[in-house]
Amino acid sequence: MIRIIHPVAGALALVTIATFWLSTAASALLASEATVAAVKTAIPWGFLLLVPALMAAGGAGVMLAKGRRAGLIGMKLRRMPFIAANGVLVLIPAALFLASKARASEFDTVFYAVQALELAAGAANITLLGLTMRDGLKMTGRLRRRPA
Ligand code: HEM
Repeated sequence: MIRIIHPVAGALALVTIATFWLSTAASALLASEATVAAVKTAIPWGFLLLVPALMAAGGAGVMLAKGRRAGLIGMKLRRMPFIAANGVLVLIPAALFLASKARASEFDTVFYAVQALELAAGAANITLLGLTMRDGLKMTGRLRRRPA
């Protein structure tokens, strides 16, 4: 069961955060302020999916690791604190701040500066989660490991 929950929760987390990122970038570039406001208001609700999915992926991953900390497992474990800190210290506060600014129709310089920070932190987490998923697929032989 844990072998199923782990990759499914991890993939769900990655897809959720990629959806936040793409909808933010697309609405900022192409859409009206009303659409930007709708996207910014929806994103904090998405955390109700993202946070449990990440916790489930990490928790199940630690169980599957069974105390092993070397090699690819070590790499996966070392990335998780950065992913969590990025989420808790940057992405969640930024999303809540942007949602409240958007609801008040305050699309000022501060809004766009925080949005740029959010996109950069989001891209970092997408990369770290993508690498963590790739390492998992290498460990189970679904992706080929590079020869040493
Ligand atoms: C604390 C963090 C994590 C640890 C310790 C960890 C550990 C593991 C372990 C030990 C396996 C091998 C399982 C087996 O032998 O069947 C695995 C597989 C895998 N992990 Fe993780 N993992 C972590 C986080 C993540 C995250 C965040 C993702 C996704 C973004 C992910 C995606 C995968 C995938 C796709 C597999 C391969 C599953 C399969 O081919 O059946 N892992 N992980």
